[in-house]
Amino acid sequence: MRDDVLRRYAALAVPRYTSFPTAADFTTQTPDTMRRWLRQIGPAEHVSLYIHVPYCREICHYCGCHAKMAIREDVIANYVAALLSEIDTVGAALSARPKVVHLHWGGGTPSILSEKQFKAVVTALQLAFEFDPAMEHAIELDPRTVTPQLVQTLAHIGVNRASLGVQDIDEKVQKAIGRIQPFETVRRATDLLREVGISRINFDLIYGLPYQTVETIRSTCEKVASLKPDRVACYGYAHLPQRRSNQRLVDASLLPDADERFVQAQTVADCFRSYGYQPVGIDHYALPDDSLAIAARSGTLNRNFQGYTDDTCETLIGFGPSSISQFHGGYVQNIADVGQYRKRVESGDLATVRGYTLRDSDRIRARIITALMCNFAVDLNEVAPDMEFSDELALLRPLVADGVVEVKNGIIRATEDGKPLIRLVAAAFDEFRKENVQAFSCAV
Ligand SMILES: C[S@@+](CC[C@H](N)C(=O)[O-])C[C@H]1O[C@@H](n2cnc3c(N)ncnc32)[C@H](O)[C@@H]1O
Ligand code: SF4
Repeated sequence: MRDDVLRRYAALAVPRYTSFPTAADFTTQTPDTMRRWLRQIGPAEHVSLYIHVPYCREICHYCGCHAKMAIREDVIANYVAALLSEIDTVGAALSARPKVVHLHWGGGTPSILSEKQFKAVVTALQLAFEFDPAMEHAIELDPRTVTPQLVQTLAHIGVNRASLGVQDIDEKVQKAIGRIQPFETVRRATDLLREVGISRINFDLIYGLPYQTVETIRSTCEKVASLKPDRVACYGYAHLPQRRSNQRLVDASLLPDADERFVQAQTVADCFRSYGYQPVGIDHYALPDDSLAIAARSGTLNRNFQGYTDDTCETLIGFGPSSISQFHGGYVQNIADVGQYRKRVESGDLATVRGYTLRDSDRIRARIITALMCNFAVDLNEVAPDMEFSDELALLRPLVADGVVEVKNGIIRATEDGKPLIRLVAAAFDEFRKENVQAFSCAV
């Protein structure tokens, strides 16, 4: 494929497809829908849980997560009290005590909770759910907050995987994004976690940041690879200052353009490959014996709201403001505003405000999009033998002509060069794709 063709496509904006339909296409839903779907979970069903902690001690300029600054301890205490109410209400709506195989704490910075608060949440969860002894218990951590006392607490509540937000190691980049975090801080956090037996370590990196160049990115990748994380995710910086006021502190004139972003993403991929990491999907790298790499090789890789996962549960229950839950029937999302979330759950109600009820055809489209995002290929004869896709195949024609994708006997497969553009291929199967795609970040 010609470089100019590839870069023209790379500049197009399409969703990240952590679900289909994407959260942007959800409409109004009520707590009654969530209650009905909770009641339908059977006793033998395995579920995953997500706990959102929307607070950080300070807000990084680049952050696109649902996170607010919290200095006072009573803010955190009030939030934990609200979480406990929500867990209680969800528990009361269940007709079974399902088995949890994945528990994920995300944020914000969940490590803002005290030992007592962590234990209170875990105890409340165990009243409503049974924890599988082999449960993956993962948490997102800001390396600057990792202390000997914190890792003891995490080990004590059973955490067995930690994702550290590294972003970039370069000092100039760190200054421009409001996140000063020397490499030594990352090394120390990694060592502390491993010392208490939390040995599954993920790092998050970002490309497309101010002052990043291919050279600085290569240097960051080399340094972090020396710590041998099991997994690395490297996301393209999503700059949406009209939605995230903190991002107005990022000088947009310093951001790399679509061409440069493309080369940076390739540099990351080349670098981790050279250190023995296996590429997983569009933006993850894993050591070959890590479960994500194994899932990618065996075709069981999945995608949910946390990104690529080896979790194949159909049901995911999310707690906290903005959290999304996924059921066989569809998706529901909690209200994002923390104050309104607290009001709802403290009155004994669920905090559902948005969602989507899946039709059978949506489930098929979701399977197609997941297969493309995870395996870079889909066999329509197998996934959707009774559906007709002439419109979608017509949309793919320019991508076929430009060597992004091949279509043969109902099998759609990205070419090696076309893999970074797989979101465009997936978008052809997205009935909700908007004309105005400006709200989405760049395609690569
Ligand atoms: C909840 S944060 C991680 C935990 C912790 N709060 C931290 O910052 O270390 C999740 C990850 O999302 C990614 N992220 C945040 N804002 C982003 C943005 N605007 N574009 C791309 N990735 C972003 C970062 O890599 C970050 O580590
Ligand atoms: S990147 Fe992490 S620490 Fe920084 S504001 Fe976002 S959630 Fe908080």
